[in-house]
Amino acid sequence: MPRTAIITGASSGIGKAFVKALLESSDCPDKIWIVARRIDRLNEMAQLSDKLVPVQADLLVAEGIDVIKAKLQSENPDVTLLINCAGMGKKGKIADRDASDIADTVTLNCTALSVLTREVIPFMNRGARIINVGSSAAYLPQPGFTVYAASKSYVVSFSRALAIELKSRGISVTVVCPGPVETEFNKLATDGKSSEFTGFRKFVAADADKLAAASLKAAKHGRRMFVYGLPNKALHVGAKFIPVGLFLELFYRG
Ligand SMILES: NC(=O)c1ccc[n+]([C@@H]2O[C@H](COP(=O)([O-])OP(=O)(O)OC[C@H]3O[C@@H](n4cnc5c(N)ncnc54)[C@H](OP(=O)(O)O)[C@@H]3O)[C@@H](O)[C@H]2O)c1
Repeated sequence: MPRTAIITGASSGIGKAFVKALLESSDCPDKIWIVARRIDRLNEMAQLSDKLVPVQADLLVAEGIDVIKAKLQSENPDVTLLINCAGMGKKGKIADRDASDIADTVTLNCTALSVLTREVIPFMNRGARIINVGSSAAYLPQPGFTVYAASKSYVVSFSRALAIELKSRGISVTVVCPGPVETEFNKLATDGKSSEFTGFRKFVAADADKLAAASLKAAKHGRRMFVYGLPNKALHVGAKFIPVGLFLELFYRG
């Protein structure tokens, strides 16, 4: 049984950085299934190493999860690492967004992450790790990015509870919460209007490669929650103390 990692969202940004960091790490498994929809990108990445196995799957539809489920059943791998990194968000008020944007965000960030995790667990043994990519958006409600922030609160809650469920089986769960990271995410979130962060977010934006390497290390150390970067750590602590109602009144207009 080949020791195998599964990384979703591997065709760009943080997921791609996870693939590179894992290839460079001392405990790189025999195979890394790189999962996303853009197969051309996955095939190009696969040139980097014969450990990389492109898996084309649209995680917004049940058939996408079924692709991975069928591969698990036919190959029966020893999955030592699952990284749920695929994610999306759409900026704008709820009333101004298409219903499909709302449904897709919840489906990809919450449902697909949870269901895929459930399908992979039977193929994991003692010592295996799960990394779920959350966000600093999880700490507080975010008008104008409402569904995304709520979906990432779900990821944090799901991951922390799952860590307890899997403790006796020796499988660790780490939820990684980055602040802004320069990837394709912001361009998609703003429907192409802004490909880069601006203002304070640009100033504090993290490097995807450093974030991925640090997250692998945090998971190896069994950290249940990994908040990356100093400004983000300060926000995380601050969010525990500020009354949510007051925060919303002070920082947001309707
Ligand atoms: N960038 C940030 O500032 C930031 C901050 C905190 C947290 N995060 C989180 O980090 C994760 C990765 O985001 P990123 O910044 O790397 O964004 P990104 O560059 O846009 O990457 C998103 C990845 O998700 C995949 N994906 C999107 N829809 C999919 C679908 N329906 N089925 C399968 N795969 C799908 C994309 O691949 P295909 O399009 O090829 O399918 C791509 O590989 C997300 O969960 C995001 O919420 C990002």
